[in-house]
Amino acid sequence: MHYTMHQVFLFLTLVSMTSAFGDSTIGPSYVTSPNPLCSSPTTSSSLTYLVDTTGSMGNYLSQLKLVNSWILDRVTARFPCGARQYTMVEYNDPDVGPVRYTQSKQDFGNYFNTLSASGGGDCPELTMKGLEMALINSPPKSYILVFTDASAADYGNTTLVNNVRSLITTTKSQVTFLVTGYCNTTNSPDFAIYRDIAALSFGHVYLFSISDINKVFNYLDYTLSMPSNSSTQLFSGEFTALAHNESFSIIKNFSSIMITTSGLVYSVQVSGPNLISMDKLVLEVWGFVLLIKRPTRGNWALNVTAGGIHSVRVEGLTAFNTTSSCSKCHVNATCEDYYGSLQCLCKSGFIGDGIDCTDIDECAYSWTNNCSVGICSNNIGSYTCKCPSGFYSPTPYSCVDINECLNSLSRCHPLATCVNTNGNYSCSCPYGYFGDGFNCEVNDCSRGVCAAGKECVKTSGSYLCLDPCSSYIALNESWRSSLNYVPSSYAIYSDYKCDNYLNGWYRFIGSGGVRMPETCISSFYCGTHAPMWLNGVHPTTSDGIVNRTACATWSGSCCLWSSNIQIKACPGGYHVYKISGTPACTLAYCTDPNTNNATCEADEEWRLGSQGYGCYCKSQYTVSSLADMRPELTCGTNEMKASFHKCQAKALNFDLNSFKSNACFQFQDDRFTNTFSILSRLEAGNCGLQSYQNSTHVTYVSKLFITSEASGIITRNESLTVSMSCSYPLDMQITLSQVLKAIVKSVVVSVGGTGQFTVSMALFTDSSYKYPYTGSQVSLSVKDTLYIGAYIQGGDNSTYVVLMKNCYATPSSDPNDPVKHYIIKDSCPNKQDSTISVPQNGVSREGRLQVQMFKFVGDAYDSVYLHCALGLCNTVTGSCVPTCSGGRSAGVDVETRDVTLGPIVRTAVSSHVPISASASSIIYIPALLLMVFFMFL
Ligand SMILES: *[C@@H]1O[C@H](CO)[C@@H](O)[C@H](O)[C@H]1NC(C)=O
Ligand SMILES: *[C@@H]1O[C@H](CO)[C@@H](O)[C@H](O)[C@H]1NC(C)=O
Ligand SMILES: *[C@@H]1O[C@H](CO)[C@@H](O)[C@H](O)[C@H]1NC(C)=O
Ligand SMILES: *[C@@H]1O[C@H](CO)[C@@H](O)[C@H](O)[C@H]1NC(C)=O
Ligand SMILES: *[C@@H]1O[C@H](CO)[C@@H](O)[C@H](O)[C@H]1NC(C)=O
Ligand SMILES: *[C@@H]1O[C@H](CO)[C@@H](O)[C@H](O)[C@H]1NC(C)=O
Repeated sequence: MHYTMHQVFLFLTLVSMTSAFGDSTIGPSYVTSPNPLCSSPTTSSSLTYLVDTTGSMGNYLSQLKLVNSWILDRVTARFPCGARQYTMVEYNDPDVGPVRYTQSKQDFGNYFNTLSASGGGDCPELTMKGLEMALINSPPKSYILVFTDASAADYGNTTLVNNVRSLITTTKSQVTFLVTGYCNTTNSPDFAIYRDIAALSFGHVYLFSISDINKVFNYLDYTLSMPSNSSTQLFSGEFTALAHNESFSIIKNFSSIMITTSGLVYSVQVSGPNLISMDKLVLEVWGFVLLIKRPTRGNWALNVTAGGIHSVRVEGLTAFNTTSSCSKCHVNATCEDYYGSLQCLCKSGFIGDGIDCTDIDECAYSWTNNCSVGICSNNIGSYTCKCPSGFYSPTPYSCVDINECLNSLSRCHPLATCVNTNGNYSCSCPYGYFGDGFNCEVNDCSRGVCAAGKECVKTSGSYLCLDPCSSYIALNESWRSSLNYVPSSYAIYSDYKCDNYLNGWYRFIGSGGVRMPETCISSFYCGTHAPMWLNGVHPTTSDGIVNRTACATWSGSCCLWSSNIQIKACPGGYHVYKISGTPACTLAYCTDPNTNNATCEADEEWRLGSQGYGCYCKSQYTVSSLADMRPELTCGTNEMKASFHKCQAKALNFDLNSFKSNACFQFQDDRFTNTFSILSRLEAGNCGLQSYQNSTHVTYVSKLFITSEASGIITRNESLTVSMSCSYPLDMQITLSQVLKAIVKSVVVSVGGTGQFTVSMALFTDSSYKYPYTGSQVSLSVKDTLYIGAYIQGGDNSTYVVLMKNCYATPSSDPNDPVKHYIIKDSCPNKQDSTISVPQNGVSREGRLQVQMFKFVGDAYDSVYLHCALGLCNTVTGSCVPTCSGGRSAGVDVETRDVTLGPIVRTAVSSHVPISASASSIIYIPALLLMVFFMFL
């Protein structure tokens, strides 16, 4: 039994009721013994509760009801023949009362159970007014307990306070305040009044938290049952000093002295003539109870250290109900000798007056045993605890947590951190490791084992690289739409959605929209209170998984809350979002309804396919194997280009996205058309590009091998050979770049086609050959010089040059007009016209000639057409520069093509001349074409 304190209370026999009340004019008259078996009841101090019942006291009162029945049981068990009056005074605001009194502890308990807290609302309460009423209605030498959570509002009513003081002096009642709160500070006068009253009445002020209420009542257990006149006041003091020495004298034989303190006291050292031992009954931050048995007469000293304002009281207790013989003591009691007077005291674990001792059921209340989480089992004189797993019993009376983390009691992995908890423990793997703490393995995911755009998911013994584009949860709730307004006026709380349960990768689908809005959305939209929008932009497919912030709009702020999310743009034009709940409720993720149709790529359509609803190739692009891939070939002037539909690659799980341009091939990713193109420059010999030439055409052939790595969940290591070939005629056609398309039908995709180099002829303003006449007309007089240039676009820079073979003027557009004026014949200038000069021919991609207008126009004709036969000459196979010296022409043999430029209309002064040129196809000299051409200069 662990209530050693019960042995030390000594009570005086038979204080007559009349002596308690006979000389008193206040208070009710005292009645009869509560116990018919007791011939002569013992009177102990009357007990008065002054209870604050204002609204804030609800919790305090319910705790109080619990411990009150316990203390009353104990007090009556110890005094089977005791008698006392119980008084209950309530005070509220502004009323005080009612007052009720009884000698029955059952009735008193019932009073308690009917108490309820209400009213009030402001903090300080009418404690002085209530105390006045309690003092008036209690017998003298009552023990008055004040239960409140507030300071005194009426501390300043001098009349009232003086009345309270004089009542205390008259009745010698003791007032102890059990306070759980205050309004201002503990030094302000509305609280300090409590200490004044307590000091005057030899009471205390205990300021404690409600959860300590059982400890406070433990303290009361020592003091409440004090019979009248059994206690002598030896010392009382109020202190602010943090360390001080005090002294007092003992001039009588006391069975014991009791030292009580209130406030934060750190230590009390007691010294006296015979200090044998001191029982430390209560040691709490709000107060101490210390007991010294059989103190010798003489001078005693106290050495106190404290942490603030505190009070110290010392009282001497007189043994009472002494017995004539120890033989009368109960078998489970001890016989104590106090300076010759014998007293029976129940042993530990028993309660009673020493003549009769009964077992204490320590298990009846949680605070009367130490079993804590264990199961308490009472026995005669004691109890035992049955402790659950994770606890052990250092003694049979308590359960103590086992610290499994010490001494290798835990099953944690050697690398794991062990954290002890009450009754258990937890293990956690260190950073970079994966497991439940009992097993830890290296976390592959922390080492970046997955490719960009994949999410690493660690599993026991392995890991997965998941593509969130194929493992997501679809959310098709249309209420997410940023157009969905739920006005606060008529909605109830449950009408609003909260996404706090979302955790994983999600894709929004359906009519509400498929993407989050990228602008702030007002509160009450998207079916929630605070809509969450994307504070940033959506990534593109090449960005992989990106981190973004989602903001929630509330209380006028576009980003009152925010959370981190991850987004990935998927092939097929949709986005997936990694969401981990919301920072609060009620918040939900929004969708932009305008994004509803914009999900599929240009070559796709939204339909039901093998993976459910989604974006699939339009019907004309549907493929079932690589052999069905149908690239489009473009034979450009500078490169060959094979274009694949990305929807086909996606359908076949063939990853084209990993290709990056290199020195040999350029890769073009066109999000607009959703095509992926491979470009091969027309440079013979470069990067394995091959060219073949016959008498009329040059053909280029390029080959590329593409290997697709494992993609998505399906692993497919397939390779695709792309072989492109384009043929270009060597003769000249003056035309814009023109392309022919070819379609190839095998896995070894070889594409063949024909293309044309472009040759342009233009009329320039001066001998720099840089500034062509633009527009449709040109004004020339007969004295003007014509500057004529011929240019090749495309083809192989290093191989071919332009050769002007025959150029002549005719008055009509017919190249076969019998009237011809030769400017160049067999690659050489006409020597009969001295105004002709050929600055450049057969040396570069540009041919130049000039001639004065009048020399070949003559009076007869107004219109002039120029015709040229131009060819491409291969400089690798021989010289292309014509030899024109000595009147002989040594032409270079190339296939040529006729080009016509004209008419050029002669005008006397400055009339406008329309310019056009025609070959078998078209010739015109628009600014655009010439600008392109300048890039080649
Ligand atoms: C002061 O207290 C007395 C006694 O209770 C009371 O009669 C009086 O009305 C109080 N004065 C004020 C101002 O509240
Ligand atoms: C609060 O404390 C101050 C200073 O001690 C005091 O002047 C004031 O009256 C107190 N207020 C109340 C409401 O008691
Ligand atoms: C009181 O106790 C403190 C420490 O507990 C000690 O330092 C001090 O000397 C003591 N004072 C006296 C007068 O004994
Ligand atoms: C006090 O002790 C006497 C014996 O000396 C006993 O008869 C009596 O019952 C006791 N009174 C109480 C109240 O316990
Ligand atoms: C006295 O205490 C013992 C246990 O310590 C118990 O077994 C016995 O029954 C008790 N006697 C009486 C009369 O209560
Ligand atoms: C995204 O955030 C996570 C942590 O929240 C971080 O580990 C990761 O490196 C971030 N990714 C990028 C691309 O910034």
